[in-house]
Parts: sequence; C-alpha cells; structure tokens
Amino acid sequence: MHIHAYEKLWLACSVLLILFLIGTVTYGAVGPGVAMVADSEQPIDAQNLDEDDRFSDPRVEQVGENEYAAYVVAYQFGFSPDPIVVPENSRVTFYVTSRDVTHGFEVAGTNANTMVIPGEVSKLTVETDEPQEYGLICNEYCGAAHHAMEGKVTVVS
Ligand code: CUA
Repeated sequence: MHIHAYEKLWLACSVLLILFLIGTVTYGAVGPGVAMVADSEQPIDAQNLDEDDRFSDPRVEQVGENEYAAYVVAYQFGFSPDPIVVPENSRVTFYVTSRDVTHGFEVAGTNANTMVIPGEVSKLTVETDEPQEYGLICNEYCGAAHHAMEGKVTVVS
C-alpha cells in the first residue's frame, strides 16, 4: 500500500509541476515580455514610422562632443541606415525599432545585442574605439529571409 500512496504523491507533484509550467508560459505570453529588451522607451506606432521624428529618417546624429545617437529601423529583411557610420572614440546610443515583426540587433563580435520589437524602441549604448567594420545581424527568426538579414556598422576616423 505504500507504493500506492507514493504513486498518488508523485501524481499530485506532476500535476502541480504541469500547472506551474502552464502558468509560467501563459504569464510569459501575456505578461511583461519586454523584459528581454536591454532598455526600452515609450511605445511608438510601428505603422506610422514615417511620421516619427527619429525614425522617418533613420540616421546618425551628433548629440554631444563625442556623443552620437543612431536611429535605426529594422525590417524584413535589413536595417536602415546601412551602413550605420559612426566616429571612432565616441559614445554611440542606438535607438532601434522595427516596422514589421520582431527582429534582433546584434553587432557581431561585441556584446551589443538587443531584441527589436515593433512599437517599442530598444536603446543600447556602446563606446567605439578604432576604425573598423562590424557585421550587424538579426538573431530573431523573422521570416523566410531571416538568415540573409544583415547590415553593417562602420566605425570611421
Ligand atoms: Cu530579422 Cu531575423
């Protein structure tokens, strides 16, 4: 009879575990899914980026002595501007949004990496050193040509 009792206990445990897992998944889906974004700003309208000051004209702008802001739009299947040209020995803050689906924004070979979600602005600051060309990759599956989605970040003197 001991075996029977243990079986019941295990059964109860498995049911609890399953409920817990379902709860976690459900909460993850409806809850604050933006937690993965490095830093996020006010929501914006992904359908009307043309009317947004920053994203209607994706660009790099000087905002301080050695400080730059790069406004970047990710789309199926690329990044704009491309290349993103930034000066050496400066501090660059990327503001990245998507005009269609979720993408990734990763400066290859560095730890600069964020998720890009339509309607949200991901913010990421890096310090550049020497002139160099970096690949820019998307690491979130975003459609048929996901594997071909790429861009460049060029650090110039
Ligand atoms: Cu964009 Cu994968």
